[in-house]
Amino acid sequence: MKIALVTGAGRGIGREIARQLAEHGMTVFAGVRDEGQAPEGTRPLPLDVTDEAAARDAAKVVGEEFGKLDVLVNNAALCGDYGVAPADVTAGHMRSTYEVGVFGVVTVTHAMIPLLRASGEARIVNMTSRLGSLTLTAARDGINRDWTMLAYNSAKTALNAITVMYANELRGSGILVNAVDPGHCATDLTGHTGTRTAAEGAAVAVRMALLGQDGPTGTFGAQEGPLPW
Ligand SMILES: NC(=O)c1ccc[n+]([C@@H]2O[C@H](COP(=O)([O-])OP(=O)(O)OC[C@H]3O[C@@H](n4cnc5c(N)ncnc54)[C@H](OP(=O)(O)O)[C@@H]3O)[C@@H](O)[C@H]2O)c1
Repeated sequence: MKIALVTGAGRGIGREIARQLAEHGMTVFAGVRDEGQAPEGTRPLPLDVTDEAAARDAAKVVGEEFGKLDVLVNNAALCGDYGVAPADVTAGHMRSTYEVGVFGVVTVTHAMIPLLRASGEARIVNMTSRLGSLTLTAARDGINRDWTMLAYNSAKTALNAITVMYANELRGSGILVNAVDPGHCATDLTGHTGTRTAAEGAAVAVRMALLGQDGPTGTFGAQEGPLPW
């Protein structure tokens, strides 16, 4: 039996990832701040990713019952500076955004690493974004001006870097670590402006969660293929 944990699984793309992994027969822990939000077919697991004690408690719950974790999807994030021009962004915008989407990922991953190692063939999927691509950001027409968000985009750049470092460190342990972009999805995060559904956005994360042992690690991609760092 494969065991999965998805953070931010109560709504949006995370909810769909949790639902789809459960459809693939996995036992899915839905990391949620409100237990009532967990999708049907999953097991609610209280997890505010900014809370180190909560992450340790979550690892204890999974560890005591299963002794391992096969899939970790670091999905929870927020955008603290939507509609704020880069020059108007404050350290406060940066802190709130990084707290969930960067420090939160490290908090949860760090707590889960012993269980992921115990799996022997674990997958970590980090939900990033093409908005975090330095290559696209440096190309002046690479990212639409409306989506140039200093806090959110740079948090995704940081998460891309973190993905590569975990991938390199864990090479040979059986743990594959990849960053994925779900595309522009209609969720609360985007004010429902996206052209893709949350279910469509979830598909690439699910694909990377189901990778075989010869699958890649340290990659950054979307449904349509690799993305530039
Ligand atoms: N939507 C897009 O077009 C798009 C594009 C590229 C990348 N992404 C990425 O895809 C992921 C999912 O995005 P989404 O569009 O589904 O966002 P969303 O609808 O805004 O959902 C965000 C999720 O994160 C959770 N969350 C926020 N703060 C948290 C915390 N402190 N602890 C635990 N969970 C927390 C929320 O839980 P609560 O319900 O408790 O607030 C919610 O479940 C994110 O990493 C996002 O950056 C999205």
